[in-house]
Amino acid sequence: MSSVRVLDVLDAQRWLVIGSAGMLGQDMVAAAATAGAQVTGLDRPVGGEPGIDITNYAGTAALIVDGHYDVVVNCAAWTAVDAAEDAEGPAFTVNAIGAAHVARAAATVGARVVQISTDYVFAGDATEPYAEDAVIAPEGAYGRTKAAGEWAVKANSADHLIVRSAWCYGAGGTNFPKTMARLAASRDVLTVVDDQQGQPTWTVDIADLIVRLVAAQAPAGTYHGTSQGAVTWHGFAQAVMEALGSDTRVDPVSSEAFAAKAPRPAYSVLGHDALRAIGVEPIGQWDQRWAQAAPSVLGL
Ligand SMILES: NC(=O)c1ccc[n+]([C@@H]2O[C@H](COP(=O)([O-])OP(=O)(O)OC[C@H]3O[C@@H](n4cnc5c(N)ncnc54)[C@H](OP(=O)(O)O)[C@@H]3O)[C@@H](O)[C@H]2O)c1
Repeated sequence: MSSVRVLDVLDAQRWLVIGSAGMLGQDMVAAAATAGAQVTGLDRPVGGEPGIDITNYAGTAALIVDGHYDVVVNCAAWTAVDAAEDAEGPAFTVNAIGAAHVARAAATVGARVVQISTDYVFAGDATEPYAEDAVIAPEGAYGRTKAAGEWAVKANSADHLIVRSAWCYGAGGTNFPKTMARLAASRDVLTVVDDQQGQPTWTVDIADLIVRLVAAQAPAGTYHGTSQGAVTWHGFAQAVMEALGSDTRVDPVSSEAFAAKAPRPAYSVLGHDALRAIGVEPIGQWDQRWAQAAPSVLGL
């Protein structure tokens, strides 16, 4: 379902989107506004401009209480996965303590809180899609901090929606398709790992799903906001070349060839039964959504 078809369902609800300058935050502000909400977007203060720092409870609570919001979406996070390995404390401060602050402040004013989480909370060693209630067992620092954020939100607000996504791309951020497009402009051959599977997901689709969950008054709980189907990074890179009309060849390689600091889940495929159980349509198949997204994401 597109945002256009849910136009005005939010009927002048007051929404706060935190992390509004980020890749998902930008699309979240747009989707909520298109659906009829009065939206305020806040991000970290820059150059004397007003902003929000979720690691500061007093400031966060004051902004949330003063705004009389119905819904608070926390898109703010420490998202530097490799850097988190050497900075787990600072990452935890944003991803767990900051999430707790947002949820606690939202709860004090009766606002619904939406927390964005990640496939990295899972070990990535499954052979079938992870259910929403599958055991959490993060392998790296980023995943541990995001898993703690999920618990923190549940502990501080009964009225929470936790939306896990993965392999995100959008027009307003740095991401895999844009990196592939940049490399393809100067190379005849790219090598891309083909032993990690996941669900490339457009941030426009995550934002639209969050609007639909709120509009449907979804029960509090954890939902998976990823595309359906699955592909390897190598397969996704080939789809990016196709969208670009590029002749650059994409060769498969094992992830051992790329020495990343943080471990990557080999199998990041999430199931969507919780959405279906409440009659909310999951995001579509990854390849169909990519075909729709590619022009705006790649600026074609
Ligand atoms: N990207 C993915 O593939 C992916 C996959 C699964 C889940 N997610 C989750 O999706 C959510 C959105 O991710 P994204 O890709 O849109 O991330 P992003 O582009 O890095 O945006 C995050 C935003 O949060 C801001 N922020 C960081 N610390 C903050 C603080 N203390 N107070 C207020 N704002 C702060 C950042 O500002 P600065 O730029 O100044 O730090 C940035 O604008 C995150 O929860 C992430 O964990 C992302």
